Amino acid sequence: MTASPTQTLAPERDAFHLGRTLELARRGSGRTSPNPLVGAVVVKDGRPLGEGYHWGPGEPHAEAAALAACSEDPAGSTLYVSLEPCAHHGRTPPCAEAILAAGVERVVIASDDPSAKASGRGPEVLRREGVEVQWAGEEVAQEARLLNQPFRKHAITGRPLVVFKSALTLDGRVATRTGDSRWISSEESRARVHRWRADADAVAVGIGTALADDPLLTARVDGGEVPTRVARRVVFDSGARLPVSSRLVRGADAPVTLICSPAAPRSVRDALAAAGVEVLVGEGDDEAARVGAGLDALGDRGVQSLLLEGGPRLAGAFLDAGEIDEVRAFVAPILAGGGRGVLEAEGVASIADARRAVGVEVERIGDDTLLQARLREW
Ligand SMILES: NC(=O)c1ccc[n+]([C@@H]2O[C@H](COP(=O)([O-])OP(=O)(O)OC[C@H]3O[C@@H](n4cnc5c(N)ncnc54)[C@H](OP(=O)(O)O)[C@@H]3O)[C@@H](O)[C@H]2O)c1
Repeated sequence: MTASPTQTLAPERDAFHLGRTLELARRGSGRTSPNPLVGAVVVKDGRPLGEGYHWGPGEPHAEAAALAACSEDPAGSTLYVSLEPCAHHGRTPPCAEAILAAGVERVVIASDDPSAKASGRGPEVLRREGVEVQWAGEEVAQEARLLNQPFRKHAITGRPLVVFKSALTLDGRVATRTGDSRWISSEESRARVHRWRADADAVAVGIGTALADDPLLTARVDGGEVPTRVARRVVFDSGARLPVSSRLVRGADAPVTLICSPAAPRSVRDALAAAGVEVLVGEGDDEAARVGAGLDALGDRGVQSLLLEGGPRLAGAFLDAGEIDEVRAFVAPILAGGGRGVLEAEGVASIADARRAVGVEVERIGDDTLLQARLREW
């Protein structure tokens, strides 16, 4: 990880304005990848002069948007921002320059940017030019970091953030003894999954699920809302067994990526590629190593967030590889009495060694209970 900024406890007034930057940042949800969610507020004599947030790639950064929205001259103001300002030229000019040009006197930052091209540079430029730079206290900083977990993990590791989603019975089954799994969760829960697909860069299943359920894995969001981005659909399929006639290949216009092993027959790979499937080869001696290789390949293609939709064996390999960052489990009030368990991993020998969530949220959705458990934070 990159050097962590010196923490300066911001007073209450600063925490209030920083809270507003986080609210603004959230407005870009589902649109900004590969860029982070960022919000900014310009305040002078205790009054907000302008605010803004990052809308999406190629659009102005939050700081520039907030400065442009100012109702009066921002010279001598304080700029609050949820992520450290950049100092590099990307698709838009550096924010540090815009802040200096506007005559801002003080900048208060909620969280660091761990990407190599950014980390610490913007604040350094500002300080050098005489701008007072302060960092938020840990509580606000954590909230700001949680906003950008996919961006942060990708910046730090080169791999996407993995959210494992599953629908299970009260006795922890994701399919009955005959393999039936439709539908364990309520309609409302399934609608939520479509929302998540619309927000993710990619959605993945194992070939077992692709063959058993023939899913489309597209985001079908209710209310006529058209998702702004289309998630890449990924199948972990060592032998390239995905049928060219499957709904994944034929059923929708969204990109499909297949991750196979070097041993997959060349003729089958070529047939899938000819049908429009991107075929990637992931090397590795075991399933966990091949998970890592697949994630590296997706990360190289700019995938920052992956919604892993099972099944149990692929999810188990992700767990064994230490690559599940968050679990979202819809627990339905039904008992299957047998069938497949939610995760088929090697598992731990003692409860003391079990992975423990660092943050859990619980919500009722229809008849189901949704448990969202973060396993680690970036
Ligand atoms: N209730 C739910 O939320 C839910 C969600 C999804 C699925 N399901 C159910 O789960 C069942 C399917 O699950 P499943 O466990 O049989 O299949 P799966 O986990 O979908 O796929 C497992 C297969 O993926 C392939 N694979 C490729 N790379 C891998 C890697 N690195 N690690 C592990 N596997 C890799 C392996 O086959 P190759 O070696 O041939 O590539 C493996 O057999 C179905 O009944 C489905 O309905 C339920």
